[in-house]
Amino acid sequence: PRYIDMENKIPLHVGIIMDGNGRWAEKQGKSRNFGHRAGRDRMIGLAAHARDRGIKYFTVYALSTENLARPQKELDSLFGLIRRYFASNIKKLYKENAAVRTIGDLSLLPDDIAKLLTDGEKNSPQNAGFTVVFAIAYGSRAEILSAVNKAVERGEILDEAGFEKLLYTSGLPNPDLIIRPGGETRMSNFLTYQAAYSELYFTDVLFPDFSDAEFDKAIENYAGRNRRFGKI
Ligand code: FPP
Repeated sequence: PRYIDMENKIPLHVGIIMDGNGRWAEKQGKSRNFGHRAGRDRMIGLAAHARDRGIKYFTVYALSTENLARPQKELDSLFGLIRRYFASNIKKLYKENAAVRTIGDLSLLPDDIAKLLTDGEKNSPQNAGFTVVFAIAYGSRAEILSAVNKAVERGEILDEAGFEKLLYTSGLPNPDLIIRPGGETRMSNFLTYQAAYSELYFTDVLFPDFSDAEFDKAIENYAGRNRRFGKI
């Protein structure tokens, strides 16, 4: 099914917008890069926690197409974190029978990172019980446009299922819950099409402070909601 059974209160797929790393660091007089490293560590912790909670897909917004316009110094540090993660941490995920998947426009990234991301998917265990989806060089508008252009090129009229196969997220279930720490209440070009019926959870807690307990609060909040998908 595209969405989890409504009787089951654990979301199948959770997405998270990892916002507030820069402010978290600046509050302590530290560099923004220090904040991104803390964000990376929190992401790793949350992925393990999400798996322990029975969530099957965990999508992290690591770099948007718009983030690519940040100063080169900050980008280099984010690229460095991504490189190191995919060159080493990923092995730990594989050992735990977890897979990785990337969504985004890899052509916007340095070649070596694009290759690390492609290999990361290719080398993932088959029939993994848990998947971490990395949105990197990701933007919903670019994703939707690229799908539309593919359809136009083929001269095809598509239904929803056919269109969804052309999105970066092809084969993934839609997110049941999207969490945004960091105080902003917007979607910032994250999974616009896929989030049509997602539950949204916003909190002022900055991402590096978004603990496993804060995550559980979001899950509990989700469990208390009544999802009707437009029906009564
Ligand atoms: C937005 O917060 C966050 C980002 C642009 C980057 C998020 C990336 C990570 C947490 C690390 C990713 C690492 C790997 C290995 C994939 P912000 O820094 O813009 O916060 P601000 O709004 O406080 O400035």
